[in-house]
Amino acid sequence: MWTWDDVDKYGLYGLTKQYPHLVQFLESIEGLHGKPMMSYCYFMFQRIVEMHRVLKPTGSIYLHCDPTASHYLKLVMDSVFGQKNFLNEIVWGYRTGGASKKWFGRKHDIILSYSVKIRSHIFNLMKERSYCSNNQPPGFKGVEKWKDEFGRWYTMASMRDVWEIDAIGRSSSERTGYPTQKPLELLRRIIKASSNEGDLVLDPFCGCATTCVAAEELGRKWIGIDVSEKAGELVMDRLHNIGLIHNLPAITNIVPTLANPVSKGKAKPILYAEQNGRCNHCGESEALDKRAYWHVDHIVPKKRGGQDQMSNYQLLCMGCNNRKSSMPDEWARAELQRVRDLVARNTFSRAS
Ligand SMILES: C[S@@+](CC[C@H](N)C(=O)[O-])C[C@H]1O[C@@H](n2cnc3c(N)ncnc32)[C@H](O)[C@@H]1O
Ligand SMILES: [Zn+2]
Repeated sequence: MWTWDDVDKYGLYGLTKQYPHLVQFLESIEGLHGKPMMSYCYFMFQRIVEMHRVLKPTGSIYLHCDPTASHYLKLVMDSVFGQKNFLNEIVWGYRTGGASKKWFGRKHDIILSYSVKIRSHIFNLMKERSYCSNNQPPGFKGVEKWKDEFGRWYTMASMRDVWEIDAIGRSSSERTGYPTQKPLELLRRIIKASSNEGDLVLDPFCGCATTCVAAEELGRKWIGIDVSEKAGELVMDRLHNIGLIHNLPAITNIVPTLANPVSKGKAKPILYAEQNGRCNHCGESEALDKRAYWHVDHIVPKKRGGQDQMSNYQLLCMGCNNRKSSMPDEWARAELQRVRDLVARNTFSRAS
């Protein structure tokens, strides 16, 4: 079960300012659905923001979720990527075993796709069979038609957003034993539609590397990330077994340092100007040369991978900085509450 500990509260602090209305919505999920769902959505929100940051204008994102969370995540996607960049809500239907007698079999997942910039994104139109009614050949002139092995007539139409693809069954030859493994065909379809040969595909929750394998087969470059050690081992094994990787690189766990770090001394006057001479938390002001008063603070602490970059700095007064370091989690939570109150008072203007 997801808990508030899964959320990076420090990172959230910056996001509350950027997405006040979304934060207000995410806060309300606790009352609508419960704390685990709220925590999960916050967790996803932070990652979706990063995906948006690294996605090229030609790229698309596909977010795979189950129907218990897809409606909440769609709001997150709409906020971060923009409603106008929405591409599809794909329904992936499958036929796994087990179903309730009290409702229809829950046999589909949702895949939400968005571009960063609509119309700049790559889309390779795909076709699928469209069967003609009454088994008659289509009456329209100039429409190409075919007969399948059972004598049924079909034409080729643009692929719809409803996909019937077999899930990984017990006897599937693809099966790795990874519990949430997805079929290669699903990833092949996504990768073919939204990238070209030589492009780079990123799966930040790659599990047993289905995306990586499909990308490699299709001549794309790829990056796979997963938090589970089991996944790390499986990725290597799977790629090795099918001959895609010959020399296994060592697992390093090194967080790369970004180029051109900015010193706190350099950052201080810039932040002072950006924040109009006010503490970024309480809003108090004081002259810049009052040395003990101002502290340049890492929004994401260095021990959590935060870097010496302007985007990760803020200027705090001494009091706020001391409070933040003595009770960091509570401080971040209080900051969320503060933004929520500001939103409730309509202090933020609505995003255009
Ligand atoms: C639904 S599975 C993805 C399955 C994958 N498509 C496949 O075919 O194997 C989600 C994955 O996210 C990983 N995960 C969970 N939390 C994570 C985190 N904080 N960072 C990276 N990966 C995470 C899990 O270990 C799991 O492998
Ligand atoms: Zn302050």
